[in-house]
Amino acid sequence: MSAAQFDAIVLGAGAAGMMAAATAGQRGKRVLLLDHADEPGKKILISGGGRCNFTNLGTAPDRYLSANPHFAKSALGRFSPQDFLALVERHGIAWHEKTLGQLFCDGSARQIVALLVEECRAGGVALALGQSVSAVTHADGQFRVSAGGHDYTAPALVLATGGPAIPKLGATGFAYELARQFGLSVVQPRPALVPFTLGADEALFRELSGVSAEVVVRWNKVRFREAALFTHRGLSGPAMLQISSYWQHRTPIGVNFLPDAAQGWLTDLKRARPKLALHNALALPDRLTSALLDRTGIGGELAGLTDKALRALESKLADWQFMPSGTEGFAKAEVTAGGISTADLSSRTMMASKVPGLYAIGEAVDVTGWLGGYNFQWAWASGWAAGQAI
Ligand code: FDA
Repeated sequence: MSAAQFDAIVLGAGAAGMMAAATAGQRGKRVLLLDHADEPGKKILISGGGRCNFTNLGTAPDRYLSANPHFAKSALGRFSPQDFLALVERHGIAWHEKTLGQLFCDGSARQIVALLVEECRAGGVALALGQSVSAVTHADGQFRVSAGGHDYTAPALVLATGGPAIPKLGATGFAYELARQFGLSVVQPRPALVPFTLGADEALFRELSGVSAEVVVRWNKVRFREAALFTHRGLSGPAMLQISSYWQHRTPIGVNFLPDAAQGWLTDLKRARPKLALHNALALPDRLTSALLDRTGIGGELAGLTDKALRALESKLADWQFMPSGTEGFAKAEVTAGGISTADLSSRTMMASKVPGLYAIGEAVDVTGWLGGYNFQWAWASGWAAGQAI
């Protein structure tokens, strides 16, 4: 059977794949964009609570995790949040900054998918949806992709099938399989931006399901100040999702429940208001205060507590140790950390050094952003870099 010939085949019509295909297409390349899903950009549609947090104005390489922390610099430097914002504005999409530099659509994430589809159309990209790839081979400088009963060939192949986070949305580890097939190494993939689970010994906290508080969470030297949320399985909310990307199994995380409290605040308060009940001294949600004080076993009026006990409580509240039993795994992870090793890729073009013409972009690569629009910015930037190079 004769194969349809293209200049590039992009596997995965998600954020990164659509950006790469549109960029290459608009440079005059004949591009095929192929996905096994029946519509493009499914993760974009559910992102940011349906409003897509499409970038972050604070984008900087130190907000990404990777075995090589320098790898993301080049692509992020060449395609910035302002570049994507310019595209958003050109398409007349209204947006707003929510908090911490996070930009969202005023309307719907569907507008971002429509933007990308329109940019692909402007580049003459052929979109093949609902096609499962059965084989990929490489010979004589051509990649041959068999999918949905058709064969396609091109001198460039872009791996943009993301990572295995949220498999029910069609996410797979397919990019890793192909990477390995072509001799590239893969940094152990793990769920990131994912809620923690707590074991039976922390059952008290599971009764707090639905309670949230602004905290500083710490793991080793990494700290985030954001909201934490207790769930019926453990700990979630932005603070916990952020720290989960760094966390390693069987290590504790420290939570400062009163990040604005000055040292000695409890003993000072005892002098100023001795009759105040300890429970009312903590400016925390009621149920949380009860659970924390239950655990410490102290209570009553401040006057009835020794300075030593109050100082000990203050220290405990400033660095409460939780030992997660694990995470909720890929089923609930927003992203996958790890992935195709950057050691095998050019940071400028995303091309594999060992296999000319083979590119890897987006979440499939071992570059993982913080929560807050950083992951889409990586998808746009790495997709743009590959699209320029194909
Ligand atoms: P992406 O997963 O988007 O695309 C991969 C594509 O490949 C999919 O279309 C998939 O169908 C296809 N594919 C997979 N396997 C295949 C196979 N075997 N054959 C063919 N096709 C295959 N980030 C952010 O910056 N801001 C936000 O607001 C959010 N919100 C958010 C919410 C939720 C619930 C999740 C799960 C994730 C986010 N993210 C986010 C993360 C963000 O969605 C993610 O980082 C990007 O979508 C990654 O883009 P990629 O194009 O690399 O993969």
